[in-house]
Amino acid sequence: MILLITGGAGFIGSNFIRYILKHHKNYKVINLDKLTYAGNLENLRDIDKSYKTYSFVKGDIADRRLVNRLVKGVDAVINFAAESHVDRSIIDSSDFIQTNVVGTQALLEAAISAKITRYIQISTDEVYGSLGKSGYFTEKTPLAPNSPYSASKAAGDVLVRAYCHTHKFPGIIARCSNNYGSYQFPEKFIPLMITNALENKPLPIYGDGLNVRDWIYVDDHCSAIDAILHKGKVGEVYNIGGNSERKNIDVVKIILKKISKRLSMPFSTSLIKFVPDRKGHDRRYAIDSTKIRKELGWKPGYNFDKGLDTTIDWYLKNKEWWQKIKSGEYKRYYKKMYREG
Ligand code: NAD
Ligand code: DAU
Repeated sequence: MILLITGGAGFIGSNFIRYILKHHKNYKVINLDKLTYAGNLENLRDIDKSYKTYSFVKGDIADRRLVNRLVKGVDAVINFAAESHVDRSIIDSSDFIQTNVVGTQALLEAAISAKITRYIQISTDEVYGSLGKSGYFTEKTPLAPNSPYSASKAAGDVLVRAYCHTHKFPGIIARCSNNYGSYQFPEKFIPLMITNALENKPLPIYGDGLNVRDWIYVDDHCSAIDAILHKGKVGEVYNIGGNSERKNIDVVKIILKKISKRLSMPFSTSLIKFVPDRKGHDRRYAIDSTKIRKELGWKPGYNFDKGLDTTIDWYLKNKEWWQKIKSGEYKRYYKKMYREG
């Protein structure tokens, strides 16, 4: 099978490329990535060295000519490419609309003319909006995105849906909850808290810290996409979640405890700093993943404790990776956010 994977130099895309090449030795992967601030070829250094079946192309999914060329002869397209950080979309949503909407449309047009057999849109549970204290997002929950980021992702989803309906396009949409794991850019909550703690920097918690996210270890998201690629039904939506709801404040306290234990020194909760809330901050996400479990036989392999242990160990072992990021582009962004210094 030949796969065109977009956004493969980012967090989930790079983990997926590693996963798919390990589990399907005869597959060929073309990775198309624009290398924005979030794209990093360091994430794939081991793959680039050891797999002749892997190739990288630097480029934009919205570049119709390039995408038309790349998609020829490909069996399936998996679209991870996106602007992915909610806070950035609140500052300026232009790149979000350009990549997550216009870019998705360009990919869909190219995929139609190349007659590919499968297209997977990597979407998010955020398209469903926010939950109160109870209830879960199912695939039938109406779309109600609250941030410019999630609105742009929802627009991508309805485009895929429309192409399936109008053109009998072989599209499938995957909506996953909050991922964490290796190679996650340290602007996102879990890697930000781990790396700030290791640098003895404040741990900024938005609002009252009681917002809830449903965490899933990135390998489990990858195995779910693998199941969708091989067994998913065209035209369907599949929710993916790890059944690990946690309040933000509790996640930070567990991280501090785990780091203290590993380094045999106390990392105090005094590093926690409550800061003004994110605008329009969604209160709670929780995924009902019954459909993918029942229909495709998928289940997660990690609980939150095991996933977080693995993640913290990775950030401890790979200081150079995240220190490089934090001292460059990330630092400029952080200054813009007025949360440091
Ligand atoms: P990320 O920001 O780490 O990576 C995004 C990648 O896309 C980067 O490598 C970037 O260079 C590339 N990219 C951006 N614009 C591009 C363009 N125009 N053309 C080509 N490449 C481009 O994001 P992530 O966290 O790995 O998320 C990947 C996908 O999964 C996104 O679609 C996101 O919406 C979705 N998702 C993320 C999570 C999560 O918790 N991180 C959860 C559910 C779904
Ligand atoms: O639910 C899936 C989504 O999860 C993905 O679609 C997005 O791409 C991904 O970024 C993520 O969105 P969130 O907004 O939930 O993730 P983030 O890591 O930005 O924040 C997680 C929670 O932590 C959220 O309630 C906001 C809070 N937070 C975040 C940061 C960066 C803080 O309290 N302080 C922070 O500094």
